[in-house]
Amino acid sequence: MKAIVLVDEKWGIGNDGDQIIYIPGDLNYFRETTMGHPVILGRKTLATFPGGRPLKGRRNLILSRDPDFSPEGAEVFPDLDALLQVAPPDSFVIGGASVYEALLGRCDTAYVTKVHAEYPADRYFPDLDRAPEWRVEEEGPAQEESGILFHRVTYKRV
Ligand SMILES: NC(=O)c1ccc[n+]([C@@H]2O[C@H](COP(=O)([O-])OP(=O)(O)OC[C@H]3O[C@@H](n4cnc5c(N)ncnc54)[C@H](OP(=O)(O)O)[C@@H]3O)[C@@H](O)[C@H]2O)c1
Repeated sequence: MKAIVLVDEKWGIGNDGDQIIYIPGDLNYFRETTMGHPVILGRKTLATFPGGRPLKGRRNLILSRDPDFSPEGAEVFPDLDALLQVAPPDSFVIGGASVYEALLGRCDTAYVTKVHAEYPADRYFPDLDRAPEWRVEEEGPAQEESGILFHRVTYKRV
């Protein structure tokens, strides 16, 4: 499995139920990278998508303990065991914080967009720069979009 995430300088990812910031060029990168692969996400992250609808062109594997939660076009799993029985190895873990926390240990690669700023945040991704089990494999150049500076880092599990 692989994880994909956008973080700020403190590894913040979300605030008050929404992503810290949306960068259109990074959303395109996210779309291209995950397209055709299953995506694994929590019920709260699904709620942040337009209309609360699953992502198109990808199998959406959603975690929720709510037995009445059954969004059209998605598969819902009540626990990790049930999810892991069907999640293919090429799945992307796409958040949020609770799902990254639960599944990062099963990921061999993490695609991290690092924004060069700090935003208000109440959800975080583990700091991979301080995690001995992760090393930087590739670091992209600094990019700028609408005044927002960021770059991409690919981490591999050691
Ligand atoms: N920056 C980024 O790249 C990025 C990416 C994704 C999300 N985010 C942000 O992260 C935040 C959401 O993260 P979050 O941790 O609050 O919520 P989340 O992980 O998206 O969803 C949490 C929900 O998922 C379900 N769930 C999680 N683990 C489960 C398990 N083991 N078994 C069954 N169900 C499980 C539960 O749903 P029920 O309550 O229905 O039982 C739980 O309330 C938002 O602010 C979002 O914008 C940021």
